[in-house]
Amino acid sequence: MKLFDLSGRVAVVSGAAQGMGRATALAVAEAGADVMCVDRNLAGAEATAADVRAFGRKALSVDTDVSDPVAIAAMFRQVDVEFGRVDFLGNIAGDGHLAKPEELTIPDLQRVLQNLVVGRFAMCQEAGRRMLAQGRGSIMNIGSLASTTALGRGHAAYSMAMGAVVQMTRELSTEWSHRGVRVNAVLPAQVINPSLAARMEQDPTLEERFLKGIPAGRLGQPDDIKGLAVLLASDASAWITGALIPMDGGNLAMNAGGTAGHLQAAVQSFRAEK
Ligand SMILES: NC(=O)c1ccc[n+]([C@@H]2O[C@H](COP(=O)([O-])OP(=O)(O)OC[C@H]3O[C@@H](n4cnc5c(N)ncnc54)[C@H](O)[C@@H]3O)[C@@H](O)[C@H]2O)c1
Repeated sequence: MKLFDLSGRVAVVSGAAQGMGRATALAVAEAGADVMCVDRNLAGAEATAADVRAFGRKALSVDTDVSDPVAIAAMFRQVDVEFGRVDFLGNIAGDGHLAKPEELTIPDLQRVLQNLVVGRFAMCQEAGRRMLAQGRGSIMNIGSLASTTALGRGHAAYSMAMGAVVQMTRELSTEWSHRGVRVNAVLPAQVINPSLAARMEQDPTLEERFLKGIPAGRLGQPDDIKGLAVLLASDASAWITGALIPMDGGNLAMNAGGTAGHLQAAVQSFRAEK
């Protein structure tokens, strides 16, 4: 479908070795884009690049730490040489750090802010400069539920950083959209990845607690981002900018005191037992 066609476009996708980064790289490639696969896990990024090539697109993999603005600038110079343009940035790679607020060390906080705020911004700035020169481009920043609500459970550093990603998105959209560069943020709820799977294995009550907040009745999968990635990269979203788009099975829409539909039966049988 022409509206979603990305033929001839170039995407830079961070976190491309696994999870939502890999899913984004594959989705935009399937829609026609060439892809620079960025990850500190080079073997993983290269495996994704090989799968992109299987769609008949050009793909390269690069080992870049997205906390490091100098490395990011070097990576974009490589994009200039190898691809000659950048039309879409999937700004996805990132790390959290869990610690009680009263125990969080300032160096750990600074590391999270460097990664999710300074690094995300440096990626936007390098991509944005090129997109402004072209007069066209789209940036998809990954935020989180923690961008707009508090999670507890030691997420203070992560939430502070993800809150900044939302304001980064709004400011860049406000400054750049009239020059053809759209900037949006996707706010996922819990999407299965290796660290989440390990946390759920450690605490068997965690998945159940997550599901209480997800009316759709299941956790997210990395592939859930594919449709949004193609939409935001394509002309189908030409008038969508500065948007915060939940990808959360209905979590943000539901009041904390609400009850998700898939749990109604459980609540009723609990009441009946009492
Ligand atoms: N999974 C979730 O539940 C969830 C929810 C909301 C937001 N997010 C955010 O979405 C993003 C992707 O999540 P995911 O679940 O796909 O993650 P993931 O852990 O499956 O993959 C992250 C990828 O990013 C790479 N990476 C991490 N830090 C990097 C760095 N400094 N430089 C280069 N590469 C780096 C890793 O090597 C890995 O390949 C993260 O920013 C995460 O905070 C995740």
